[in-house]
Amino acid sequence: MSTPETAVASAPTRTAHRRRYLMCRPEHFTVSYTINPWMEPTKPTDTAKAVAQWQKLHDLYLELGHEVELIEPLAGYPDMVYTANGGFLIEGRAYVPKFRFVERAGEAPAFADWFRAAGYDTVVPEEVNEGEGDFLLVGDVILAGTGFRSTGDSHREVGEVFGREVVSLNLIDPRFYHLDTAIAVLDPVQGTDNGGPERANIAYLPGAFDDASRAILEERFPDAILVSDEDGSVFGLNSASDGYNVVISPRAKGFEAQLRERGYNPIMVDLSELLLGGGGIKCCTLELRGAE
Ligand code: ARG
Repeated sequence: MSTPETAVASAPTRTAHRRRYLMCRPEHFTVSYTINPWMEPTKPTDTAKAVAQWQKLHDLYLELGHEVELIEPLAGYPDMVYTANGGFLIEGRAYVPKFRFVERAGEAPAFADWFRAAGYDTVVPEEVNEGEGDFLLVGDVILAGTGFRSTGDSHREVGEVFGREVVSLNLIDPRFYHLDTAIAVLDPVQGTDNGGPERANIAYLPGAFDDASRAILEERFPDAILVSDEDGSVFGLNSASDGYNVVISPRAKGFEAQLRERGYNPIMVDLSELLLGGGGIKCCTLELRGAE
């Protein structure tokens, strides 16, 4: 009898890539206003617990061999921990956010100053945009979300700033108000032709998009992992991948299995306290590309 080789041969070998991230310790974390459906100011928050959970994510990144930079948390800006909204950076150029809500507006200059000091060519935008919350680099293409925060005009602007193709996607479910709550980039490889073993792939929550956007995603990413509503609603997609290790919420059980089947290594980190502000792993992680 022959051995069932075909059954085990399907999961490809994955390679971890070193990342450089910007994080912000949630020293001032609380929920004092509502700008997304997750935020309920009447629910108590525990800042010490938020810091402890965040610290585990921070330390894990270091264990995985990534570099982590920190930005000083500002008093009065409880959402600053979600650094993904602090900008969008490619090859040494930083596109600064312009927050949709006044509650977060004061974060933008602080991020801009950090990028300048770190040597980034820093571009202050005209249009409302919330950084890597709504812009995801997949291979050489920028996937851009709109519907709740970043505007369609910011998609044009980000395309001009980086000289790259931008694919606009419409978010329709208020729980998934940023693109990074509905799409996870699994192979964040830069500067490839998207071909070969490093082909950039994504996971997404189909129900977060309108029909037209879903059709675009199906066409562009035929091999994408489609995540269940159950895993999506616990912010399973709000994750950080280095191409092999994918840091996800421990509640996203189905997604964990899907990742394993594809040869990724899911690692669970619980950010339950930060979910009270409507954010998860990816929200607390901004990728710093270039300008080392
Ligand atoms: N409370 C924050 C807000 O509503 C959460 C941001 C989450 N960030 C993200 N990248 N999805 O703006």
